[in-house]
Amino acid sequence: VSLKNFNSFGLAVSARYFTEINHPEDLTELFSDPKWVEAERLILGGGSNMLFLKDFDGLVVKMNIRGIEHRINHDDVIVEAGAGEVWNDLVNYCVNHEFAGMENLSLIPGSVGASPIQNIGAYGVELKDVFYSCTAFHISTKTFKTFTKEECEFGYRESIFKSHFKGQYIITSVKFILHKQAKFVLHYGAIEQELQNNGISHPSLKDVSQTVSRIRVSKLPDPSTIGNAGSFFKNPVVSASDFDKLIAQYPAVVNFPAPNGIKLAAGWLIEQCGWKGKTVGETGTWKNQALVLVNHGGATGQDIYALSSQIIDTVYTKFGVLLEREVNIID
Ligand code: EPU
Repeated sequence: VSLKNFNSFGLAVSARYFTEINHPEDLTELFSDPKWVEAERLILGGGSNMLFLKDFDGLVVKMNIRGIEHRINHDDVIVEAGAGEVWNDLVNYCVNHEFAGMENLSLIPGSVGASPIQNIGAYGVELKDVFYSCTAFHISTKTFKTFTKEECEFGYRESIFKSHFKGQYIITSVKFILHKQAKFVLHYGAIEQELQNNGISHPSLKDVSQTVSRIRVSKLPDPSTIGNAGSFFKNPVVSASDFDKLIAQYPAVVNFPAPNGIKLAAGWLIEQCGWKGKTVGETGTWKNQALVLVNHGGATGQDIYALSSQIIDTVYTKFGVLLEREVNIID
């Protein structure tokens, strides 16, 4: 089965076995066959955060569980969505119902089920800020478990599903807690400026959502025309003492406070090494955002991986900072 339409890099890879899950019970049925419990597996949502280095010699499980429901509870709203819903459809549902909290997460590619795994985030808001709980299928015991927010151990692009429980659970639905009263987060990047430019002083949820969407479209390539997986690397966090040395040498280094040190803008580091907008064969970095690696059409996963290794090397040589890939490498 070709996976070309199931990975946002648009790589022409295939899967040996492929199945789609439309209801949670489909998982119980699938894994009643021990063959699939033992098989090499890949759970696929939107395929927007994966780099295939070769064909996948196992079972791809495409999550299609749909449905969005909400329950209003005084000032809060609990919204529950199936893992297979498109993330941005959920954001639009909430914005249209005037449920506040997700508007900054507009236009992030991918599915609802994948969103907790790496605690997606953008423009000063992370998934964990709106997360209430999720239900997940435990493959080896074939039981469903509900995870509270604490149990998910969210961190920057991290959760227990990427660490301790990697490969053990399949998220089937997620509950979010949103609010009737908006608490806007507008300080990040160009949001405030954009609103001002459009003469908006008292923004609605829709205004914020549209502003974020506009900024994203201007900075990030559209995967339907240029293959990419958003940020390819994480923004690295360095210690205060390493940061002091760095800023002494490079006073312009773009940085943000982080809970465990100082977070550097990987895009800035990469741009300083001369990579921004550069084309290498069929791959390259995006002209408006050096943190995004792209497939200009005919790249293989190996090509993109090789470019990412070169970028890691040059950034390390110049700044002594080790970039870590944020995209899942499937090899
Ligand atoms: N910058 C440069 N050159 C570049 C890119 C960025 O100098 O080519 C500097 C600029 O100073 C800019 C700063 O880096 O102000 C931060 O850039 P940006 O606001 O574009 O955000 P980012 O840190 O590069 C992160 C997330 C994105 C998210 C944006 C907006 C990560 C790995 N990435 O990128 O998430 O959309 O913030 O909040 O944390 C993703 O994870 O796939 C993703 C796209």
